[in-house]
Amino acid sequence: MKFQGSHILSVSQFDRDAISRILEVSARMAPYAARKKRCHVLDGAILNNLFFEPSTRTRVSFGTAFNLLGGYVRETVGEENSSLSKGESLFDTAQVLSGYSDVIAMRHPKILSVEEFSKGSTVPVINGGDGANEHPTQALLDLFTIESEMAPFGKGLDGLNIVLMGDLKHGRTVHSLSKLLSLYNKLKITLVSPKALQMPDNVISILSNAGHRIEITDELGANLACDVIYQTRIQQERFANKEEADLYRGHFSLNKQVYQQYCKENTVIMHPLPRDSRPEANELDVDLDGMQNLAIFRQAQNGVLVRMALFALTLGVEDKLSEFEQPV
Ligand code: CP
Repeated sequence: MKFQGSHILSVSQFDRDAISRILEVSARMAPYAARKKRCHVLDGAILNNLFFEPSTRTRVSFGTAFNLLGGYVRETVGEENSSLSKGESLFDTAQVLSGYSDVIAMRHPKILSVEEFSKGSTVPVINGGDGANEHPTQALLDLFTIESEMAPFGKGLDGLNIVLMGDLKHGRTVHSLSKLLSLYNKLKITLVSPKALQMPDNVISILSNAGHRIEITDELGANLACDVIYQTRIQQERFANKEEADLYRGHFSLNKQVYQQYCKENTVIMHPLPRDSRPEANELDVDLDGMQNLAIFRQAQNGVLVRMALFALTLGVEDKLSEFEQPV
């Protein structure tokens, strides 16, 4: 795949070679993200970060990633602070803002809105989440995390036993991650959710067509003795109201007692975050904090590496990093 100048809208645009390239460039970003070296390869470039839905990790790590490569970041947060609220179209907004930018990252509550926006843009647009549809950069950082967490056990991305758990209907991160996992071989994937929040049929078909062994269940149990558990939040913002979302809270609480009862010694726990820390959410218990196998904060940190890699690739500078490197 040709990255330079391309929009990053969906994981469906990647084949396995493209993923390997992204993960390889991401790994090369580690010394810059760790402040062991500097790299100003994007000196003078401008990222416009447009976030029309709440975000902490995605928005800030896009900005941090761009700054770490020497670029400038401008931000618009909330539709009420943009002229979209006056009826301007996504297409017109893109026509204007791409004239002010070298690259644009965008999150929007409407499915396929980022793709619609990209049609008006003359610079690469990166999807930071479009409604319940996709979150491609999250899935890439999730895959990077799975690969790096499995490496000490001598495992790669093929042949893993992975549990996806929680609100699989509305969770765009598990939709995108499942599509990426369909590129790998001989996986066992267990989908744990309340029946009403099951993974959409089209995503299950993608996993099945890849030849993976799929199990669908609404119970915790022996299936948690796996390589990776990927827990997700009940996506309250996608329900009609809080009361409806409350019906599903606490069904799949992952805590130390559940971990000790069902998981393997080395089962890695992931979560795209934010985790809902309110007591009634009962989702991913803080009693797991401090466990080496809890990868959630390493996972969030990997978001900087992967987003640095995507900027370098879409702006065509991934082979110039060492040229622009300086000691700290
Ligand atoms: N994982 C994730 O997308 O987090 P934010 O909503 O905080 O960006």
